[in-house]
Amino acid sequence: MSETQLNITSMINPHFYKLWRTKKPYVVAKGGRGSFKSSTISLKLVMMMKKQAQLGHKANVICIRENTVNLRDSVYGQIVWALDMLHMTNEFSYAVSPMRITHKSSGSTFYFYGGDKPEKLKSNTVRNVIAVWYEEAANFKSAEVFDQTNPTFIRQQSPFVNQVQIFYSYNPPRNPYSWINKWVETVRNDDDYLIDHSTYLDDELNITNKQQLKLIEAYKNNDRELYRYLYLGEAVGLGTNIYNMTLFHPLKSLPDDEYLVNIYFSQDSGQQVSATTESCYGLTNAGKVILLNTYYYSPVGKSNKKAPSDIAKDLHEVEHQWIRQWGMNPWKKTADSATSDFALDHEMFKEYPEDGRYHHVAKTEKTKMIDNVQNLLGTGRFYYLDIPENEIFIKEHQQYRWDDKTIQSDKPKVIKENDHTCDAFMYLIMDNLVDFGLKW
Ligand SMILES: Nc1ncnc2c1ncn2[C@@H]1O[C@H](COP(=O)(O)OP(=O)(O)OP(=O)(O)O)[C@@H](O)[C@H]1O
Ligand SMILES: [Mg+2]
Repeated sequence: MSETQLNITSMINPHFYKLWRTKKPYVVAKGGRGSFKSSTISLKLVMMMKKQAQLGHKANVICIRENTVNLRDSVYGQIVWALDMLHMTNEFSYAVSPMRITHKSSGSTFYFYGGDKPEKLKSNTVRNVIAVWYEEAANFKSAEVFDQTNPTFIRQQSPFVNQVQIFYSYNPPRNPYSWINKWVETVRNDDDYLIDHSTYLDDELNITNKQQLKLIEAYKNNDRELYRYLYLGEAVGLGTNIYNMTLFHPLKSLPDDEYLVNIYFSQDSGQQVSATTESCYGLTNAGKVILLNTYYYSPVGKSNKKAPSDIAKDLHEVEHQWIRQWGMNPWKKTADSATSDFALDHEMFKEYPEDGRYHHVAKTEKTKMIDNVQNLLGTGRFYYLDIPENEIFIKEHQQYRWDDKTIQSDKPKVIKENDHTCDAFMYLIMDNLVDFGLKW
C-alpha cells in the first residue's frame, strides 16, 4: 500500500485511543448514537490489514451483521468510507456478489456476512483471519451467534498475528433485560475483554455538526429518558406506559404557515374478530407529521357484525372523503403484513381496483417498531387534529402498555387489547422512515 501522508490522530477521537491500542482479543464498543464507534472500528480494521499487507502477508477481515440485506448499507459502506479516509480506495477492488473488498496486490480481503445465514459462518473456510467485526451486535438474536461463530474464525487465524481480534459495536437496547445488556455484564470482569462506552459528548474533534447537535438538543428537551437511551446509550428501562403522551401535540386546525406535502393512509385490520382501523396522516413542509382523520370499526359486542365487503366499502368511501378533504391522493397506503390471506385487501381490490393496493409491511419485533414511534415522538414533530374521530387513537396510545409479567425479559410483550390504532401508527412510521426524517 502506498505511503500517503496521513494524520490518523485527526480522524480518531481521543476517547478511542485505548480501544485503538488495546492488545485484548475482545473489544466491545457500545454507546449512544453517533459516538464514532463504527468509524473508529472500520479505520482500525483497515490499518490492521494495511500493516500485514505491507509485510507481504495476506490478511483477511470478517464483517458480520445480523442480516444479509443490511450489509451493503452498513458495514460494507463503512469499510469503503474508511478506505477513502485513508486514501486507499484505488488499491482495492470491490464486489457485491459475493460481497467482498480485496486488496489488489496482497489479496487481503474484507468478507461480509449476514448472521441470518449461519451456514456461511459456521462452515467458513476463509483463512488468514486477523479480525472479526460484529456491527450492530444488539440486533443479533442472542449471544449464541458469537459462541458458534468465533471458534470458526479463531481456528483460521493468520500465522502472522498473535490472535484474531474480535470487535463488537452496538447501541445498548433500552431494555436492561435484553440479552446483549446481560451479556456484556457477564464479560465485564473478563481480562480478555475491553469494554468501552462512548457518546457524542466524547467528540473532541468537533466532527458532529451544528444541525446534528441541534437535533440531539431537541430530543434532550422533549424527552429526557429517550435522550438518555438514544444519545447517552443508557438502558433506561421500558417503563409501564409505552408512550409519553406529552409528545402527542393537539392541533385545532392545520398550522397557517405550513402546507401539506403528502398524505398517507395506514390500516390495521382485525379480520372479523376485532377492530379495523385506518388513519390519514399529513406531512407538512416543516416536517410535522399530523394525524388528520381516523376510521375505526369494532365488531366487539355487536350482534350484527359487518362483513369484509361492508368494511371494504367503508374504507373505500372514507378514503375518498379524505382525498377530497385534503385535495390530494395518498402518497402511500400501508397495511399490516400477511397475517391471514389479505382478505380485506383482496376484497377492496376486487371491488375498487382504482383505489390501488396497500403496501404490506414486513413486521419486525414489536420493540423495534415501538422504537421507531418513540423516535418520531422524540423529535417533537408529531401532532394530531383534536377532533372526535381521532379520540380513539389518543385513547389507545394512552392505554398502551407493557405486560408487567414480561417486562423483566429479553422479549417483553405489549398488552394486546385495544391496540389497533397503535399498530397502524407503527406500520405507518416503519413504512415511511425516510419521508419522516428518521432514516437517511
Ligand atoms: N474522522 C471523521 N471525519 C469526518 N466525519 C466522520 C469522521 N469519523 C466519523 N465521521 C462521521 O460521523 C458520523 C458518526 O460516526 P459513526 O457512524 O462512526 O458513529 P456510531 O457511534 O457508529 O453511531 P451509531 O451508534 O449511530 O451507529 C458518521 O456519519 C461518520 O461518517
Ligand atoms: Mg455505528
